[in-house]
Amino acid sequence: MDQAAQTSTEEPVVAQEDESTAGVSRLSFLATGVAAGVGATLLGPLGRSATALADPGKAGLSKGDAAILRFLAAAELLEADLWQQYNELGGIQDAQVPGGSGSPRYVSALEVLDEDMSQYIHDNTHDEVSHFTFINAYLKSRGADPVDLDRFRNLPSSKATGAQQIGRLTNLTELTVDTSWWTKYRSSTKNPDFGDKFPQAVPGMAAGRFPAIPRSDSDLEPANHIQAIANTAGFHFGAVEQTGASLYPSLAQRVSDPEVLRVLLSIGPTEAMHFQTWHDKAGNAPPLTDPTSGLVFPNLNAPPLGGEEFKTNLIMPKPTIFLRRSLPVASIVRPTNTQGAALATFNAVAAEELFRGQPKEFFATLTGLANAADAAARHGR
Ligand SMILES: [Fe+2]
Ligand SMILES: [Fe+2]
Repeated sequence: MDQAAQTSTEEPVVAQEDESTAGVSRLSFLATGVAAGVGATLLGPLGRSATALADPGKAGLSKGDAAILRFLAAAELLEADLWQQYNELGGIQDAQVPGGSGSPRYVSALEVLDEDMSQYIHDNTHDEVSHFTFINAYLKSRGADPVDLDRFRNLPSSKATGAQQIGRLTNLTELTVDTSWWTKYRSSTKNPDFGDKFPQAVPGMAAGRFPAIPRSDSDLEPANHIQAIANTAGFHFGAVEQTGASLYPSLAQRVSDPEVLRVLLSIGPTEAMHFQTWHDKAGNAPPLTDPTSGLVFPNLNAPPLGGEEFKTNLIMPKPTIFLRRSLPVASIVRPTNTQGAALATFNAVAAEELFRGQPKEFFATLTGLANAADAAARHGR
């Protein structure tokens, strides 16, 4: 896929700044990193309150709609934070996604999965920044409070050459990646909404804790070690984006305001577009054993996987059971159950150790946002 048209040289920095909404500048977020005053930049650079920024033509949000949007804003802030770390070392650092200077050996290992990996990482990062920026600005435009997680930006950065040294929300160095999305989207008889479980594509990755970015320059060799790190990233990319692809339709079912529904229905499918891309790339992760950690990446085209159901170029969602077994199978995003979806999503991501090192207050805050979203009820039923 040629994404050359999305390179930064074709989108002037000035235009970025001009397009920032209500003073919210994506560029300043990325350029400053965070430590110093992103909260102030993001949440009210001119000292205006959320109410003062509200769109006079729009009524306020219902409590439920605001709670759903606030959880999504938090999820997008977390997504943007992890993608930013990937971009600094493995993506393209430019005016759209500034910060970091790249790690050539990590980039080379990622390119084994696809020669355009750096561009895709850049674009996914850019998209996530746009998601939280938009949702927070939208909340303000409707008189609601945006979400600020800056007080939790305390996790360390990678010490590898190429990474910024700033506080992070997420930890990419000890991940327990759930790779069952690989088999879940290939099943024609099972659906997580029916309580079904799915085998891991890379069982070792779900049974330990592994880095998805080089932790320091000592992780850049031997070759199979940095390749294992890039492979881990490749499967983590799919894990993250399939979560987003499910979260939006799950929460959309409890939105009341048609415009809020439009927001969810317009952002959600972009998560699925990301997922589709990463699903394709993960299948190119070369089989190997990490000589440092012992992590094994199996041949995905051989038993216990392989065969028609699991071949690596089968990347579109296999039709499967949906709603009731009496209905025909359908190609669908899965899961999309709406009950408890926000908390289940947060807990699943937390189980992957993405927030390892965060204090209890972080988990309490995110759980609170998730519970509030899950308590939203659609009006007019
Ligand atoms: Fe997103
Ligand atoms: Fe995403």
